[in-house]
Amino acid sequence: MEILIRPTTDLATDLAAGLVADRLRARPDLVLGCATGRTMENLYANLVERHRHDNLSFARCVTFNLDEYVGLGADDPRSYHAYMREHLFRHVDIDPAHTHLPDGTADNLAGEAKHYEGQIAAAGGIDLQLLGLGESGHIGFNEPLSSLMSRTRQKALTPTTRKQNAEFFGGPDRVPARALTMGVGTILEAREVLMVVLGSAKADILAKATEGPITAMISATALQLHPNCKVIVDEDAAVRLQGQDHYRWIFENEPEWEPYR
Ligand code: GLP
Repeated sequence: MEILIRPTTDLATDLAAGLVADRLRARPDLVLGCATGRTMENLYANLVERHRHDNLSFARCVTFNLDEYVGLGADDPRSYHAYMREHLFRHVDIDPAHTHLPDGTADNLAGEAKHYEGQIAAAGGIDLQLLGLGESGHIGFNEPLSSLMSRTRQKALTPTTRKQNAEFFGGPDRVPARALTMGVGTILEAREVLMVVLGSAKADILAKATEGPITAMISATALQLHPNCKVIVDEDAAVRLQGQDHYRWIFENEPEWEPYR
């Protein structure tokens, strides 16, 4: 795992978007794992700008989202289907047939989960998986005690997560109680993982997720096992990291990061 600290939210977002853009230019048929949440809104806005002003094309890109709420259809404005259309898909040249999210309205949710895993495999697996970090330490909707080998399946959401997403539904009790989510094991199979964590509210959970012991109580700790995982954070999120001086040194000195400095 590599942690990269940038001074501001904008610079952290720009670094993350720069990495995504470089992977997409190197491989136009990139299979991109997409995440949702406020953190990703900034990232997608930055990618849309690069599409508009810097010739970044999504024409051959294939996407798979991490998760969707159970019971929300693609036309529901609170669904992650709608989120992705609103923040990325409708602004770029992606082929809608290349975009995938789990169907939270499927009659047979276990069957849908299996079908989704099959679609990822048929696409050759995920090249680059984007992640945010939930306040409960989840990635996707892998709530505490999710098996670190789990696959796509239905999960019940914790009160912390429902509270975190309450503003989009008009109160925590109105947030759907369940979601279909890629499993931790599914996420770990991506060839590269890029997690973005912004703001002081995430400082504690970021330190636990990256520097703490691996535990199913915090599914993001499983990323410590991934051979190619980068975590991009801003100064506000980084304040509790024990190794922050070292991480800063890496970004400032390692040749790999020279083009991004
Ligand atoms: C939701 C999503 C996660 C996301 C998290 C963080 O719970 N299922 O994939 O990482 O929110 O969201 P935010 O970026 O708004 O803090």
